[in-house]
Amino acid sequence: MTESPPEIVVLDDAQAVAEEAAARWVALAGDAIAARGRFTVALSGGSTPRALYERLARPSHREGAPWANTHVFWGDERAVPPAHADSNYRMVHEALLAHVALPLDNIHRVRGENAPQYAAADYEQVLRLAFELRSGQFPRFDLVLLGMGADGHTASLFPDNPALDEAGRLFIATHVPQLDNDRLTMTLPAINAAAHVVFLVVGEGKADTLRDVLQGDPDPTRLPAQAVHPAGGQLTWLLDKAAASALSL
Ligand code: 6PG
Repeated sequence: MTESPPEIVVLDDAQAVAEEAAARWVALAGDAIAARGRFTVALSGGSTPRALYERLARPSHREGAPWANTHVFWGDERAVPPAHADSNYRMVHEALLAHVALPLDNIHRVRGENAPQYAAADYEQVLRLAFELRSGQFPRFDLVLLGMGADGHTASLFPDNPALDEAGRLFIATHVPQLDNDRLTMTLPAINAAAHVVFLVVGEGKADTLRDVLQGDPDPTRLPAQAVHPAGGQLTWLLDKAAASALSL
């Protein structure tokens, strides 16, 4: 299947990005459930994805989304317990899960409280079971949500990190020297197996990096977000005008 070109959507501001992302979530969920009986989504940490989760928790979206058949996973997690202030699970629970009728069995949390290598291997097993994967197969999420840091990182795939070269694993532990901490992250082949990948990027502070990622020379080791290209899926960038201000569109 040939890769379709990325869809780049520029919206007025961060709230408009959150609203557009919420509308797409609900639409993709409806299509997936109609076709396969469930909607599988990998969530991202970060303040921009958080705005989407908070938007989905509002009555206008909360009541329209098919939570009973939605399964949430995490694209990355910090190596901390779920109650920790840095936990992506905690953030998603506060912003969304505490407000919607998602069955507990549909919440597939990364066990960041465990030793990183064990937590990663455990989550790979969660993914293999949830997607009925055979050896060498990757999960085809209906939707993978991603943010992007001003350094070009995405999920917990950071510049110049050996994690970027992982070609066989689904989910790994990675030490991030830039942060001096450990992270747990879906690998690039796992992200790139998705049916839809949606980046949510807002703010002037991301503009130059976004220009380099989308219109600069290929350099995925320095700009990991450049390595996200779902060969058999659709890549979409939802941007506000500030983040898109350095692009030539
Ligand atoms: C994380 C995220 C990370 C985040 C980006 C963007 O665990 O922190 O997975 O990749 O999405 O850093 O975050 P902001 O939207 O807050 O800039």
